[in-house]
Amino acid sequence: MAADLLQGSPRIAPSILSADFSRLGAQLAEVMDAGARVIHVDVMDGHFVPPITIGPLVVDAIAAQVHDGGGLLDVHLMIEHPERQVAEFARAGADSITLHWEATPHVHHALGAVREAGCGAGLALNPATPAEVVTGVADLIDVALCMTVNPGWGGQPFIASSPAKVAALRGLLPAAAAIEVDGGVDVESAPRCAEAGAALFVAGSAVFGAAEPAEAYGRLVAAAGAA
Ligand code: DX5
Ligand code: ZN
Repeated sequence: MAADLLQGSPRIAPSILSADFSRLGAQLAEVMDAGARVIHVDVMDGHFVPPITIGPLVVDAIAAQVHDGGGLLDVHLMIEHPERQVAEFARAGADSITLHWEATPHVHHALGAVREAGCGAGLALNPATPAEVVTGVADLIDVALCMTVNPGWGGQPFIASSPAKVAALRGLLPAAAAIEVDGGVDVESAPRCAEAGAALFVAGSAVFGAAEPAEAYGRLVAAAGAA
């Protein structure tokens, strides 16, 4: 199930970072009723990036709702030493775990640990990190996450050079690896990323910052040619 959602038709992945946490379950229900099946969870540790956000407790708290609705939890670790936290997030209910190239000297080991924990393995690249770094671990990557803003905050403007990097990643990785874009994704930037080869589109403020998240989700689906 998880693999199908990650590797199948293009998907919009709402990021709960921009949701109203006082009614998180209701916000999830809104986007899942509208068709969302990949829910993006942004984990920040106050070290790799300044903010501190979500931990395994929140993943555990929403896992049953997301899984019962046929969805998966796409956990994006913006933390130092991500390999130390893989087992904990897998236990909490993560279906895919994405770690940053810049966050550990042990990328090969960490991606292997994610798969050993039974999750899809994602590798995220900051805007300044060249696409070519994926070549040494191409066979260990289920998802390559191209940061289209600098990590740390929702609501930042899309970096215009990103589609070229998406295209470079698409050329470097086997077809089985999906390309995910994250940051500043809206109805303007999503089609440019889709054209370059992205299949997973993380959207925080464009979904939960809108007056009607379900309608905003639908507009993004149409713009990206996603499901
Ligand atoms: C940023 C996070 C994103 C964030 C995107 O560091 O990785 O997932 O939620 O937010 P928007 O869509 O508002 O740029
Ligand atoms: Zn993210």
